[in-house]
Amino acid sequence: MTIDIISVVPDLLSSPFAHSILKRAAEKGLLQVNIINLRDYTTYARAQVDDYQFGGGAGMVLMIEPLVNAVESLKKEKIYDEIIFLTPDGETFNQKQANSLSLKTNLLLICGHYKGIDQRFRDHFVTKEISIGDYVLSGGELAAAVLTDAIGRLIPGVLNNETSALTDSFQDNLLAPPVYTRPEVFRDWPIPDVLKSGNHKLIEQWRYEQAVQRTTLLRPDILDSK
Ligand code: ADE
Repeated sequence: MTIDIISVVPDLLSSPFAHSILKRAAEKGLLQVNIINLRDYTTYARAQVDDYQFGGGAGMVLMIEPLVNAVESLKKEKIYDEIIFLTPDGETFNQKQANSLSLKTNLLLICGHYKGIDQRFRDHFVTKEISIGDYVLSGGELAAAVLTDAIGRLIPGVLNNETSALTDSFQDNLLAPPVYTRPEVFRDWPIPDVLKSGNHKLIEQWRYEQAVQRTTLLRPDILDSK
């Protein structure tokens, strides 16, 4: 899978994919992340990519021309399954969307900046608009990093048995159960006895009950969500 990300602050994206699971995904050839600098596609002087908004108002807007130049040039190399604009007014991202996007071949993520991007680009090029939550970031870069991480780890073959996503929170509409590691007793806080029982059936049942309890208490809204 490839994820191409268009940004005016490409340096913001230099590190998130260079470590841990996503680094291994790249090494295994399962995920390639390309960061594209929007300024490389402008024909305006001094690499200008933004301008004042028509009608007045505070904040600069990313111009349509550099965005279209970039997308049309990238489209010569590959067919994108989705062209995704990261924006606080998009559909809120969740695990179900991450699962579905992890099965695609080529994604293009567009990071906005300043006040936003020219609406005509959204109307004519963007196929999906995604928000990572009800708050406003300075730009789409951190949101693009969140999406790439959540999607990348789900690509078939990226995680092994030990790190399997099947037991992640949200994967089955349940939050994950609590986990413990050594020592067995720290201060006067022992781990639950059942985890030492060696009885895998009993342990599975305990974990399931814990997951249901946790979800009922903390996130009852996801219990019956599809
Ligand atoms: N850009 C700015 N804020 C954002 C958000 N909450 N989600 C996605 N992209 C954004």
